[in-house]
Formats: sequence, structure tokens, C-alpha cells
Amino acid sequence: MKDEIIGVVGAGTMGQGIAQIASTNNHKVYLYDAYSDQLGKAKHALRKILQRQVEKERMSQEEVDGIMDRIHFEEDLTDFGECSLVIEAVVEDLEIKKDVFQRLEGIVSYDCILATNTSSLSIASISSALKKPKRFLGIHFFNPAPIMPLVEIVPGIATSEEITQTARQKIDGWGKTTVLAKDTPGFIVNRVARPFYSEAIRQYEEGVADVPTIDWAMKEIGGFKMGPFELMDFIGHDVNYKVTETVFEEFFYDPRFKPSFTQKRMVEAGWLGKKSGKGFYEYGENADNPKPTKDKELGQRIVDRIVAMLINEAADAVFMNVATVEDVDLAMTKGVNYPKGLLKWADDIGLQEVLDRISKLQTEYREDRYRPNPLLKRKVRNGEKFY
Ligand SMILES: NC(=O)c1ccc[n+]([C@@H]2O[C@H](COP(=O)([O-])OP(=O)(O)OC[C@H]3O[C@@H](n4cnc5c(N)ncnc54)[C@H](O)[C@@H]3O)[C@@H](O)[C@H]2O)c1
Repeated sequence: MKDEIIGVVGAGTMGQGIAQIASTNNHKVYLYDAYSDQLGKAKHALRKILQRQVEKERMSQEEVDGIMDRIHFEEDLTDFGECSLVIEAVVEDLEIKKDVFQRLEGIVSYDCILATNTSSLSIASISSALKKPKRFLGIHFFNPAPIMPLVEIVPGIATSEEITQTARQKIDGWGKTTVLAKDTPGFIVNRVARPFYSEAIRQYEEGVADVPTIDWAMKEIGGFKMGPFELMDFIGHDVNYKVTETVFEEFFYDPRFKPSFTQKRMVEAGWLGKKSGKGFYEYGENADNPKPTKDKELGQRIVDRIVAMLINEAADAVFMNVATVEDVDLAMTKGVNYPKGLLKWADDIGLQEVLDRISKLQTEYREDRYRPNPLLKRKVRNGEKFY
């Protein structure tokens, strides 16, 4: 398997990371980009990241040189004929991706697996460009790819079972944690995580608490590594809002996924978060951000509401056969560092309690956003748990 050659198309953030992983696993890698200056930047960035590992004594100079030597920076696709797996990580644009795969299909061997790293396009829509879509699937890495253990394996409606298994084995072989997800909007992580942001913003909009208090509660009481507002500022509101908007549109405007005016206005105003110096917080040198009100009772209420909504979404992913209970929990702990799998968390809280929280919100608001998931209701009725 180690003598298999891996192709990566697109040498941006994700392409660089994927090339690094494959090369670290002793594969020869072809990394292609449409722009030659981007290839230069990618080489420089990769060398810098790896050199830091040497400085921190996590890798030897020989290892780093080996990883760099195995990556071949390519200005055309012709060498990709030697690849057994090609992972595409170009810009998130359906027409560009379709064009890439059409060109690849004319170059790669008959049994080469073709994969996309898309976050928001459907596997089916990209596969329509291919003559042989059964060897094509989604292999969705998380940023930064060499560090985040999770990879979502997403077969499309045309993907063969055999290709799905082979692809999964290859990625498992690279030491990643793979989960299997149906080709539905946001796959697992980007779907189930929506309430982490939306229910935090909703509580802020209602005036339940201010931004630092909600962040404090989610970290101190909820056990999350970052608060929702800090995390949105870190991701960038343009990126985070776009994911929310896409998931909402792709779910045929299901009100559960409705984006917020708060975040839309921030994007419109150019308050993109850390990268623009201002988001929910200020990031300048003299930034003087407000402090949280460390009210434990209020904090618990905030966390209970967000966690209940997250569990409801996790239950829906299982209910709609997007993924198994185990894979949903793995996805959220290994893909976005949640302190506990949401469905395990639900069992620990008690499903009746979770259902009560959501039902109370629904009674109060009469909004479809707060409808309890049928699987959750069914489990409560039957006295069952998720595990
Ligand atoms: N950044 C993330 O957090 C993240 C996480 C998971 C998945 N993704 C997905 O990965 C893909 C890439 O995202 P990114 O953040 O690395 O983007 P990026 O903008 O950093 O990189 C995209 C690269 O594609 C290149 N490119 C554009 N057109 C091309 C073409 N026709 N042929 C070859 N290369 C071309 C660009 O020059 C650029 O280097 C997207 O589909 C995105 O949805 C991104």
C-alpha cells in the first residue's frame, strides 16, 4: 500500500494538509494547483510547518526532508496517471470541481479512486460530471488536516460499496478516525454543530445573556474548548455564515437551520472576527472586551438549552440514517473536539430530561425550530437509551 501514489488537486490550506498526511505515511504525492505561484507558496508553507516540528523536537530533520522529498509539486496533471487515489481540494465551486474531475478522468487509470474534499456541495452534483461515478466519493478532512483526527467518508448515490470500503481502509491506514456519512447537507459535523452557534446567538439576541457570559458558560460549565462566539470569531463570520446559509438552503429552508440577522449584519459590516480585528470581540492591541457575569445558575440554563438542541440534531442525524449513533458521537468529539459524544451525553442527562427541555422551548415559542426529534420521543416512550 505504501508504494501507492496519491494525487492531490488544489494546493491551498486543505490540499497542503492532505499532501502532508499522505507523504508522512510514506506515499509519493503529486500536488497540483492551477496557479504556479500557489505551488511555490504551498512548498514554502509546508516546509515552514514541518521545520517547526524539528525545532520542537517532534520530528527529525531526516523525517522532514523525507516528507518534503516525497511531495512533487506539479504544474500539470499528466503524472496523475500513476495515482491510485486522487483527492480534490480546489475552491468550493461546483463548475470548477466538475471540470477538474472531467480532466482527471481522462488521465487516471481505470481503477484509481477519485475523491472530493468538499464541505458543502453534494457528492451527487459533482459526480454528474463523471463517466464512471461509481469510483467517486467524498473524503472530507477537517482543518488543520494533519492535526484533526476525523475524516468523513461520504459515498454518493452512484458510489460502489467496494470503493467506499477501500477508500475508508486507506484513510484508516493513515491513522485517521473515519466515520461514514450519507450524502446530505453538512454531512455529520457541519449539520449537527449548527445549534452550537445558532442557539448561542439566539439566546444573545433574546437578551438571555451577553456574549462573554455565554462563552464562559459553554467553557466552564459545558466543558467545550472554546465558546461559540470565540469560535465564530476564529473561524471567520464570512465562512461560518456561509456554512449556515448553505445548510439552510440545502435543507429546503427548514427553520431549524435558519441563519441569524446578528451574524448576517456582522458579515455585511465586514466584522469578520479575528482576521478583520473585530467580530463579537475586539482584537486590537488595546482591546478592552467586557467580562462575563459568572452567574452559575444562568450559565447552566444557557448550556442546557444549547446542549439539548445539539442532542436533538444529533438524534436527527441518526433518525434520518445519515450516520450511526457511534459515528455521530465520534464525529463531534474527533472533528470539533466536543467534550463528550452528544448521544452519550443525552444518555447521561436522561432522555426524558432532554426531551422536556426541547418541548418547553417548543411550547414557549411555537417555532418549528424547536420540534423534538421523533427518535428522541420514541426512545423516551420505550424507555430506551442511545447506548
Ligand atoms: N478550509 C477549511 O476549513 C475546509 C475544511 C474542510 C473542507 N474544505 C474544503 O476543501 C476545499 C478547499 O478548501 P481550502 O480552504 O483549502 O481552499 P483554498 O482557497 O485555501 O485552496 C483552494 C486552492 O484551489 C486552487 N485552485 C482553484 N482552481 C483550481 C483548479 N481549477 N485546479 C486546481 N487548483 C485550483 C487555488 O489556487 C487554491 O490554491 C473546498 O472544497 C472546501 O470546501 C475546507
